[in-house]
Amino acid sequence: MIPQSFIQDLLNRVDIVDVIERHVPLKKAGTNYSACCPFHSEKTPSFTVSPAKQFYHCFGCGAHGSAVGFMMEYGGLNFIEAVNDLADRVGMQVPQQQPESRPGMAASGGQSTGNSSQDLFEVMNTATRFYREQLKHSESAIAYLKKRGLTGETAARFAIGYAPAGWQNLAAVFPDYQARMPTDPLVEAGLVIENDDGKRYDRFRDRIMFPILNQKGMIVGFGGRVLEQGEPKYLNSPETPLFEKGRELYNLFGARKAIREAGRVVVVEGYMDVVALSQHGIDYAVAALGTATTPYHVQKLLRQTDDVVFCFDGDNAGRKAAWRALENSLAQLVDGKSLSFLFLPEGEDPDSYVRKSGKEAFEGLLSQALPLSVFLFKELSAHTDLQTSEGRAKLVQEAKPLLAQVTAPTLALMLLKRLAELSGTSQGELENLLQIRRVSSSPSPRPRAPRPQPASPYRWLLQVLLHDPGYASKLERELLRGRSEYAEEMAAVVALVEFIDTCPHMAEGTAIPSVITYFHDSPHRALLEKAESETLAWDGSIDLEAEFSGALARLREIQRKQRMTELHSKSLSALTPEEKQEYQRLMAS
Ligand code: GTP
Ligand code: MN
Repeated sequence: MIPQSFIQDLLNRVDIVDVIERHVPLKKAGTNYSACCPFHSEKTPSFTVSPAKQFYHCFGCGAHGSAVGFMMEYGGLNFIEAVNDLADRVGMQVPQQQPESRPGMAASGGQSTGNSSQDLFEVMNTATRFYREQLKHSESAIAYLKKRGLTGETAARFAIGYAPAGWQNLAAVFPDYQARMPTDPLVEAGLVIENDDGKRYDRFRDRIMFPILNQKGMIVGFGGRVLEQGEPKYLNSPETPLFEKGRELYNLFGARKAIREAGRVVVVEGYMDVVALSQHGIDYAVAALGTATTPYHVQKLLRQTDDVVFCFDGDNAGRKAAWRALENSLAQLVDGKSLSFLFLPEGEDPDSYVRKSGKEAFEGLLSQALPLSVFLFKELSAHTDLQTSEGRAKLVQEAKPLLAQVTAPTLALMLLKRLAELSGTSQGELENLLQIRRVSSSPSPRPRAPRPQPASPYRWLLQVLLHDPGYASKLERELLRGRSEYAEEMAAVVALVEFIDTCPHMAEGTAIPSVITYFHDSPHRALLEKAESETLAWDGSIDLEAEFSGALARLREIQRKQRMTELHSKSLSALTPEEKQEYQRLMAS
């Protein structure tokens, strides 16, 4: 164990810019430095190093850390080695210390859930091991996968398993299965369902299990397929604190390296499509999880690569799904990146196609995919008669709301020109008609948007505290109690405040560079990293006092509403005179 105070001194001594510069050439960009990210392949730099805050952040892949973190991730060192390496450079002696408990590491789930994400991840890991073990013992499940053409090697690579028939199989690996905990991690993780009589049973029964990993490679959910026929064909994990369907993509974690190498990603519809493509050497496929492609998906993918190909079935349903994907992509488009649409021959899906025709044939199709601009006008003109004025007017009207969403300047201009051609108008006429401001051909930097406020006041508070830990002393701690829909974020604030309290010498108004190192193995890490990266753009012009009091005001408002609801749920006669007064006061404020 290396004492936390030493890490802090060390990080105050080394300069992250020097540390990174030795390995990655950095360019000055305002107060920060930037470079093409060393952790993923990209052509335009989204890797930023902040000398003021002593951390790096990649807006593309989300890589984030301190100087220690960089040496671990980039240099492949473990924590101790990274600390030793940095200490050597600045001539500091690393002291030894007895193990101590770290307050931020304590079980620290929010009050309303009782389970930290760490607990839930562990539950998911145990379940995955169980399902994989069960697959080995199920002849019918093995036979089914074999019939679908999967090798054992592929099944193992995707950690595919089998949930046996029967109601309480998970009890074999979870001794607490029957215990009546008010907040059961199995229930919260979506593996077990509790009926109205309080009886518990496995959600997934007699299904092939596909674990779903988040971007950091943690198991956050499952897709379960029936063997042969049955309804529903796929059963997915419900939304849980770990799993938000509209944000995850199946196999994005596993495909990262292949996406980088191929320079593209293909988005297919089904789990089996992803798995079959991979078995045939196409490892850069991902799938949405039974939902339409969301703007969030598109954004995530465009950060990984410049070339996204959506692959759909050639039938009506496929074209509809493709159109939804197009609608959800428009606002995310970026000049210099390409989105395209591939429609497979009628009756085929990527799984059947690649098994029949092989890798080369499938990649041949990929290269013929329709660029978004072509697909867009093809669909729009398909049901209008461009020979008539009415038809051309309809085309313009239908295109208007779609084009309005495109903020990528060059692409917006190209789409406008194409619409002008098809509708027989001039570009100027169209601009007037659509009330689109003329975009200059040399793109000038867009004016900075007003800073969006975080959805949760706790997140807001995290940003302020990370930017200037001095605010911890001005924070009314009662505001961090009680139930909250933002339980995890609240717990992160509590942990951060605890950490700040233990920091002995803190310069007024400066961030603590060791924060993220301290929380490296903590369940709060992701949240803190995100909040910290959101403060990168903060400069001298930010009114911290206003940010802080803004967040506090929102917190107080939340507490006020909660208390009102509480009082409101009691009958009037049950209220004490004090409570009645309090109620009136709350109503009035
Ligand atoms: P196979 O029939 O095994 O080849 O499955 P597939 O992966 O090709 O699935 P399909 O093309 O039928 O559906 C595409 C995706 O939609 C699936 O991978 C699931 O994510 C989702 N999906 C399909 N059927 C259901 C269902 O009944 N319920 C839910 N929630 N999702 C489904
Ligand atoms: Mn299929």
